[in-house]
Amino acid sequence: MSTRSVPGGTFSRRAIQSVVIRAATVMFSVCTVAVKPTCDASRSSNARKAGSASLPVTKWMRWPEYEAAVMPSVYAPQRRRSDRSTGVGSPPVPALLPAAATVILEGLITSCHPDGSLHLAAMGPEVVASRRFDRLVLKPFAGSRTAELLAATPEGVFHLTDDVLLLARVVTGSLTEPPAARPAEQVRGWLLKDACEAFEFRIVEADTSGQRALLTAEVVASHSHRPFRGFNRAAHAVVEAAILFSRLHLSGAAEIQRQLEMLRPLIDKTASDRERQAFELIATGCGG
Ligand SMILES: Cc1cc2nc3c(=O)[nH]c(=O)nc-3n(C[C@H](O)[C@H](O)[C@H](O)COP(=O)(O)O)c2cc1C
Repeated sequence: MSTRSVPGGTFSRRAIQSVVIRAATVMFSVCTVAVKPTCDASRSSNARKAGSASLPVTKWMRWPEYEAAVMPSVYAPQRRRSDRSTGVGSPPVPALLPAAATVILEGLITSCHPDGSLHLAAMGPEVVASRRFDRLVLKPFAGSRTAELLAATPEGVFHLTDDVLLLARVVTGSLTEPPAARPAEQVRGWLLKDACEAFEFRIVEADTSGQRALLTAEVVASHSHRPFRGFNRAAHAVVEAAILFSRLHLSGAAEIQRQLEMLRPLIDKTASDRERQAFELIATGCGG
């Protein structure tokens, strides 16, 4: 039987094979567990609200089956307040969805200043995992201008964009003038002309008791302006850097600069001028 020297001793080939097979089995079962939908709302981090329903998933399901089984019940149309008081209609829909059923998408939100002018902020709302975009859960921090403006006018527009330079300019407050926009069609708000997609929303439920408001919004109109032509690694790095920048006050400049340096190789390897400019804007804003 062949043997191989390894640090710390000598193993037979069969013993090594057996260890490898066992490790692969463990990894496979971990991965399998990881794709099981989080179906017990009470265990979900997203289901902190009392009254969130347990979802009717009792067996392993593939995603399409899971969505077909779960989404209609989770994503049924919201009852009107008047229905709730009379007990008419379907059971209330939980404001928050189980984590496995949602995805956070990073984008830009326009809301309205009291004089009707445009306010722009980066925001990552939760949307249903199938990305149907009929509902968004916005989570603006309580002290943010967006939270304040949406409390006054509970309407706005969420945009998906591939323009990371715009994202960097918004986050660092270095826009010299508002981007080109036109009035929204169904709500009081603004549509960014250069966004890939835009979703006009109206807030139907608000929980402002926590540090972050939980604003459930119905999408009332969707616009597809141009195709999203993909992100390279540098663009992903800029999104990460923008998020780091927005946490500058929490983590401190030294820590953010350290993390930006870890992202920098992605810029060096794959950035075009726009991503490079965006990254440098953020790095400079962090004092780097
Ligand atoms: C990609 C991205 C996503 C963000 N998502 C959120 C979010 O969901 N909630 C939030 O309060 N801030 C979020 N931020 C941070 C805000 O953009 C930042 O705090 C900003 O200053 C808020 O602007 P405002 O005070 O004008 O509303 C995000 C930042 C980035 C770059």
